[in-house]
Amino acid sequence: MAKETLSVVDNRTGKSYEIPVTHGTIRAMDLRQIKTSEDDFGVMSYDPGFKNTAACESRITFIDGDRGVLLYRGYPIEQLAEHGTFLETAYLLLEGELPNNEELDGWVHNITHHTMLHENVKKFMEGFRYDAHPMGMLLSTVGALSTFYPAARDILDPASRRRQVQRLIAKVPTIAAFCYRHTIGLPYVYPDNDLSYTGNFLNMMFKMTETKYEPDPTIERALDVLFILHADHEQNCSANAMRGVGSSHTDPYAAVAAAVGALYGPLHGGANEAVLRMLNEIGHVSRVPDFMQRVKAGETRLMGFGHRVYRSYDPRAKIIQTMAEKVFAVTGRNALLDIALELERIALEEDYFVERKLYPNVDFYSGLIYQALGFPTTMFPVLFGIPRTVGWLAQWEEMLLDSETKIARPRQIYLGHPTRDYVPISKRS
Ligand code: CMC
Repeated sequence: MAKETLSVVDNRTGKSYEIPVTHGTIRAMDLRQIKTSEDDFGVMSYDPGFKNTAACESRITFIDGDRGVLLYRGYPIEQLAEHGTFLETAYLLLEGELPNNEELDGWVHNITHHTMLHENVKKFMEGFRYDAHPMGMLLSTVGALSTFYPAARDILDPASRRRQVQRLIAKVPTIAAFCYRHTIGLPYVYPDNDLSYTGNFLNMMFKMTETKYEPDPTIERALDVLFILHADHEQNCSANAMRGVGSSHTDPYAAVAAAVGALYGPLHGGANEAVLRMLNEIGHVSRVPDFMQRVKAGETRLMGFGHRVYRSYDPRAKIIQTMAEKVFAVTGRNALLDIALELERIALEEDYFVERKLYPNVDFYSGLIYQALGFPTTMFPVLFGIPRTVGWLAQWEEMLLDSETKIARPRQIYLGHPTRDYVPISKRS
């Protein structure tokens, strides 16, 4: 039988080594035995952007980037999006199994009854400038929650962890809605516990003078599905931030704030906002070919296209594209859809995109739906962050409970000056 090992010959010394292979992976620390002399540090692996480095073992989410497969705890995303609800999916990601009726009722009750914010959080938020980006407000306010719940520092107590997990999932939509109301100068709307998770979020966003807000069921469901699709995506940039920051044993509010910071960037969760800006900039289907020329010349990127892991169509983008029709039947068709469809049509035929295996990702169509639902562009990454809080927390807890976890601390290849003596300022050229 073939051995599950890798034989390595070090041509510098002529020595050979046998390195175990488990799950198709070698342990980077096994390379350190490969030395040219006793005082040599040993071989390291160099991998900017972690393109081929597994930083953890995980049982939460699986992606097969070549086949366009996404599974949460083994369940295909298509089935969860068709039959599940967001809070049921959140339970699945965190607990590992789908809940029975009793478990789901208890879970929904606990989330629903933690949606309220301390009044001082509201006052804190009132201090933001009128034009503050909602993602910056979300980041800071989630971080500030750390000061409201000092017991959250007890991260090794499972009961305390559960309380913070429920608080975060419950309060992030409230903070997100307050961010929006702040930017447009409208009074904050308090949670309505009679409504569903997404129904209540719509209530806190859009309620005006009516005594009771009634969400449109199609829109409420569409948002619930969008939340399911965004709930987790294994070791992406923000999950990596959550795990890395959490590995120092800081409290989950501080770690989620770091993850929100990572999600904010236009190459990650900020891409949905960037797609809308791009579509507006293109402005008309007739200008699509010109824009594509600029992309191919390397002058700009086609936002919402490409993915580190998917080398085929992102399954989430497919679901969103189908859902867009249902949403547009209620809200009216988004005029930018034609530009998006034309961009996709050309991209799927052009060698530049085919050779690089660039396909639409989750952000390509989500912004069009968000816009049709009445969300301003700056809220798009926030809408990504609300459901992704669940994934971050699941990844964080898995990291904490893993006996192999160490504080995240990569190595570097130092290429700077060797030791040199301090030069007094009067003697510097
Ligand atoms: N438009 C044009 N060219 C692209 C694009 C794009 N959107 N994405 C990648 N490329 C090219 C890139 O220029 C490079 O070409 P070359 O080999 O000639 O230098 C090649 O494809 C490989 O790109 P890369 O940047 O090395 O790939 P990566 O795996 O490091 O980056 C990515 C992945 C998502 C950052 C990148 O595809 C990108 O910037 N996409 C646009 C932003 C976007 O839509 N982000 C959302 C990602 S999905 C949501 C999430 O999970 O955050």
